[in-house]
Amino acid sequence: MLLSVAVCALAVTLAAAQNVTYDYVIAGAGTAGMLLAVVLSENPDITVCVLEAGGDGRTDRNITDPERRGTIQDTMYDWQFMTTPQPGLYPNGTEGAQPVPRGRVLGGTSAMNWMIHNTDSRVQLDIWESLLNLTSWNWQTLSTAFRESETMYAPPPNESQYFKYDSIYHGSSGPIQSIFQRSVLSLFPQYVEPTLLNAGYDVPQDRNDGNAVGAGFLPLAIDPHNYTRSYSGSAYTAVQGRSNLHVLIDARVTGIDWASSTSGNVTAAGLRYVSDAGGPNTTQHVAGREVIISAGCIQSPQILELSGVGDPAILSPLGIQTVVNLTNVGEGLRDPPMMNYLPISFGVNTTFTGGQYIQNFIELESARNMLSATDYAAASQWLNSTTHVNGVRDVQLAVFKELWFAEQPLIEMAWQFNLQNVTPYNLIPLSQGSVHINSSDPLAPPVIDPSYNHVNATINGTEVDWDMWLLAKAAQTYETRLATTSPMNSMCEQM
Ligand SMILES: Cc1cc2nc3c(=O)[nH]c(=O)nc-3n(C[C@H](O)[C@H](O)[C@H](O)COP(=O)(O)OP(=O)(O)OC[C@H]3O[C@@H](n4cnc5c(N)ncnc54)[C@H](O)[C@@H]3O)c2cc1C
Ligand SMILES: *[C@@H]1O[C@H](CO)[C@@H](O)[C@H](O)[C@H]1NC(C)=O
Ligand SMILES: *[C@@H]1O[C@H](CO)[C@@H](O)[C@H](O)[C@H]1NC(C)=O
Ligand SMILES: *[C@@H]1O[C@H](CO)[C@@H](O)[C@H](O)[C@H]1NC(C)=O
Ligand SMILES: *[C@@H]1O[C@H](CO)[C@@H](O)[C@H](O)[C@H]1NC(C)=O
Ligand SMILES: *[C@@H]1O[C@H](CO)[C@@H](O)[C@H](O)[C@H]1NC(C)=O
Ligand SMILES: *[C@@H]1O[C@H](CO)[C@@H](O)[C@H](O)[C@H]1NC(C)=O
Ligand SMILES: *[C@@H]1O[C@H](CO)[C@@H](O)[C@H](O)[C@H]1NC(C)=O
Ligand SMILES: *[C@@H]1O[C@H](CO)[C@@H](O)[C@H](O)[C@H]1NC(C)=O
Ligand SMILES: *[C@@H]1O[C@H](CO)[C@@H](O)[C@H](O)[C@H]1NC(C)=O
Ligand SMILES: *[C@@H]1O[C@H](CO)[C@@H](O)[C@H](O)[C@H]1NC(C)=O
Ligand SMILES: *[C@@H]1O[C@H](CO)[C@@H](O)[C@H](O)[C@H]1NC(C)=O
Ligand SMILES: *[C@@H]1O[C@H](CO)[C@@H](O)[C@H](O)[C@H]1NC(C)=O
Repeated sequence: MLLSVAVCALAVTLAAAQNVTYDYVIAGAGTAGMLLAVVLSENPDITVCVLEAGGDGRTDRNITDPERRGTIQDTMYDWQFMTTPQPGLYPNGTEGAQPVPRGRVLGGTSAMNWMIHNTDSRVQLDIWESLLNLTSWNWQTLSTAFRESETMYAPPPNESQYFKYDSIYHGSSGPIQSIFQRSVLSLFPQYVEPTLLNAGYDVPQDRNDGNAVGAGFLPLAIDPHNYTRSYSGSAYTAVQGRSNLHVLIDARVTGIDWASSTSGNVTAAGLRYVSDAGGPNTTQHVAGREVIISAGCIQSPQILELSGVGDPAILSPLGIQTVVNLTNVGEGLRDPPMMNYLPISFGVNTTFTGGQYIQNFIELESARNMLSATDYAAASQWLNSTTHVNGVRDVQLAVFKELWFAEQPLIEMAWQFNLQNVTPYNLIPLSQGSVHINSSDPLAPPVIDPSYNHVNATINGTEVDWDMWLLAKAAQTYETRLATTSPMNSMCEQM
């Protein structure tokens, strides 16, 4: 039975409709949760309620202005989580904690991210179905969904020499608007691109075509009409008049309400939450036929554990009764390690074609393209001789090997700032950690342990930290190639 719901049409609401059972209630108005709500509520007969812990920042220039990306980190729009102390985090060998930025606002982390908007490779996405057994989650279905989510605008003809683009790999009517950057630092076309080509790297036509490997400018999720961030917050703005869609801000989900719990079977009936609108610390409830937990990779496990879904060994000591014994909840957390910047300084005077700050030149490379031939062979030998790594699920090792030998992207070199500099990322670390609650207080932050450098490898007879070894070797090799290949070999001041 469907109930019609009266709402104030032009603003987010402060409370759920009373005594209504929604078709869907969603925890988290973030990247995925808000977009799901937008799509589900396209059908006027389906009622949807979304609960978001953060506020509404849709008119705040610090969120909407692409030139200010990065600035809302460490503000009220960021959950400001930290990892547990990680051994040897600092160059001097001292342990240290690492910030874990996460958006706390309507739009979630899509309100704070760098807006790079591209798809993965065919091989990467087909693995979801072939190795992870996720029936019909593959390149065909996911790249189709990506196109449907996007409206991509072709670069202006006078700039098409900079931007590799083929419209058949992009959408033309989806909610997320995407464009290429509006300015080009002459460093890229005059020096970086020819050097990469001379060094044997590829600068392909359009990396949404099923092979993401290569270098070049990638699209950004920006609305060209007013040059503002296009994200799940703006996707909501476009449809917020829908009477069947309720979004509650400042509503923090504290757990799942269970309808019934017979042995081995539970049914979720809604969510409970705290909101200042109901008075401090007053728990309120919203009922739904379907409950979707979409609070991101840090807090979805938190909500599940607070609701009794998880490992009894973690829940029982906190006085939480296990409703579903699911020991995988919060396990397998991976946080891609990065190096701050490659120490390269280019003695070149470079000019802009426009006045904009954002430079988004991204290279995604396979291990083979990023390592010396001897390092690649030694690492391949270790992988081939390894069938199990402690702390790493066998299926994840299998996925990694598939990506490695199919020469899929494992290293990213990001040139996105107006600094003549590069940030290297290890995109798929083997090390895995966890995120768990250590308190039954739903407002306490979860314990985030990415467990960096947890995997040892034997490379050429020496035991190394695998993830750091790969990142460091890739960075060294790349830096050396840039410095020794024309035309960049003539302009590197120091290495
Ligand atoms: C600095 C940075 C830069 C990035 N750059 C890019 C990029 O350029 N391109 C790219 O593709 N990806 C990028 N990413 C990654 C990408 O943004 C994230 O993977 C993605 O946004 C995660 O979406 P999500 O829906 O899983 O979670 P989120 O978008 O984080 O959504 C979770 C939502 O749930 C809410 N929430 C949490 N707990 C509760 C609760 N108890 N009750 C109610 N609400 C709750 C949160 O406030 C949030 O709104 C970047 C990430 C970061 C941190
Ligand atoms: C909701 O139901 C409760 C109890 O059944 C009732 O007291 C209350 O008036 C109802 N509220 C609305 C808005 O109908
Ligand atoms: C936006 O950011 C600037 C500088 O980072 C800060 O001074 C300002 O207070 C922020 N605005 C809001 C509304 O938070
Ligand atoms: C090591 O470096 C960190 C970060 O720079 C610093 O906070 C810490 O004090 C240093 N420790 C020692 C022993 O020098
Ligand atoms: C996928 O299915 C195969 C065959 O049934 C099984 O061997 C494998 O363990 C499954 N993998 C996962 C990740 O569940
Ligand atoms: C930018 O314009 C779009 C329409 O093209 C609109 O939906 C959006 O709200 C605008 N964004 C801002 C921040 O004004
Ligand atoms: C749980 O519910 C499902 C769907 O109603 C049913 O098929 C299944 O047999 C139930 N399992 C148990 C253990 O009761
Ligand atoms: C609300 O709960 C917090 C933490 O549990 C507590 O510190 C605070 O005093 C409570 N406020 C009220 C008004 O009860
Ligand atoms: C929970 O499940 C795990 C593995 O699935 C099992 O080893 C453990 O004994 C179970 N715990 C309880 C309390 O049932
Ligand atoms: C760059 O330009 C500045 C000012 O025009 C000049 O002083 C400097 O020598 C130039 N540097 C190089 C490496 O050409
Ligand atoms: C492996 O070790 C040998 C002997 O120490 C050395 O000659 C060779 O260069 C090393 N190879 C790699 C890939 O490090
Ligand atoms: C490792 O296995 C892959 C794929 O099975 C194969 O192509 C490669 O030659 C092997 N490499 C080494 C060094 O054994
Ligand atoms: C990795 O190797 C180091 C010594 O090189 C050792 O101290 C550490 O315990 C090893 N870690 C694992 C997870 O095996």
